[in-house]
Amino acid sequence: MLLLAFFLGALASDGSDNRKVGVNQMHVAYLSEFERSVSWTSLTEKDPITFIYQLAVPGPEGEMKMVDSNVTTFIEPQDKSQERYIHTVVLSNLKYGNYNYAPMGYHWYHFNVYENTPDDEQMFLIYGDMGVENSQCLDAIENMVITLGDDLDMIWHIGDFAYDMCDNNGQNTDLFMNMVEPIAAAMPYMTIPGNHESHFNFSHYESRYSSVSKTNPYYYSYDYGNVHVIHFTTELYFYPEQFSEQNIKDQFNWIQQDLKTANQNRDKYPWIITTGHRPMYCERLSSKCVNDTDPVRIGPYGLEKMFNDYGVDVAFWGHVHLYERMFPLNNEEYEKQPLDKYENPKWVTHVITGAPGNKEDISTNMKDQPEWSAVRLEEYSFTTLTAARDTLTIKQWSKDETSKIIDQFQITKTEQKSELRWYERAIKWLRGVTKMIF
Ligand SMILES: [Fe+2]
Repeated sequence: MLLLAFFLGALASDGSDNRKVGVNQMHVAYLSEFERSVSWTSLTEKDPITFIYQLAVPGPEGEMKMVDSNVTTFIEPQDKSQERYIHTVVLSNLKYGNYNYAPMGYHWYHFNVYENTPDDEQMFLIYGDMGVENSQCLDAIENMVITLGDDLDMIWHIGDFAYDMCDNNGQNTDLFMNMVEPIAAAMPYMTIPGNHESHFNFSHYESRYSSVSKTNPYYYSYDYGNVHVIHFTTELYFYPEQFSEQNIKDQFNWIQQDLKTANQNRDKYPWIITTGHRPMYCERLSSKCVNDTDPVRIGPYGLEKMFNDYGVDVAFWGHVHLYERMFPLNNEEYEKQPLDKYENPKWVTHVITGAPGNKEDISTNMKDQPEWSAVRLEEYSFTTLTAARDTLTIKQWSKDETSKIIDQFQITKTEQKSELRWYERAIKWLRGVTKMIF
């Protein structure tokens, strides 16, 4: 933990030296257990840079390794004279432990590769909708990263970056990426796009975050500790001039296949967690909410039934600038559970975490809270998820420098949801047979 604090401190104090020229906007992503991508942006270095990395142990295991970066040029679509050079390296065959890394000639960064045994818990820090301006929770998040140290595994930013990435000919992205660099360079910072990335065909998002996946930065998945994670893009449903019906269908089919496989691996990865930007539920009273939610939830390629059929445990969302967690839901029907512990929930638990702060401020114009909404807090905050084998713990944290818990609850599971549904189906069938006989 001390080592991580040292590195974060070092970045904050001396990181400004080479940001304008050379290397900046460092970002790590998780590809698989022993594989990470590292990417950075340069305004000046258009040729590959030798990247050096080293497991921080004595002896041959700690020998320095080198790889040349792969460079793509991003021509800013509004001011075509502005070129940015995006450098990426993929690090394979990593070992468990602490890595030091640097583009050669620039300062050192650091990340960890953690070993997860079945008894270990994993922790994820989650939010959507963070801007450059009014990023109220940034200090609290950075402090939490330092405080949690080795307990924190990765960060999920579920859409809407910088407000907006394209502003000021894309310089807003440079500001944002440098703003989050102390956390994004120290652990995987996993992303999917939101509606604020739609300008110029999502090109600003693609320029910086294509490295989050080997396939595409819109929908991808991985196993980590006790969790199977699916990141997907709701925006495919809302921009027909940019995404075709085939694009939506491809994602839909991919999610279905991924969920099938994830269910076969439940013994190893008992929880299935999804992240998307626009929530399936916010409120059912306003047309804005219905227009934003229904295509993803119940449209021709609606995902709610699939999520419940395959037993997704928790769906995290952004887009609405508040914190709201629901009781388990299926087609607007909810399962009443104790507020602090959902035991063997039948359906998906939805959590909206879109309140770390941006120039659009917090959402305070929501209508009456429906019965299926367990907790709604209209205040700046962010989320952590801790995953043990049989329990998920979700906490919502305040923006205070020393953050306080403003809501928490657990989800426990002694049976897989697919088994529960099997029993339910069997009971239904028996009832039907009984009716026929008597
Ligand atoms: Fe949004």
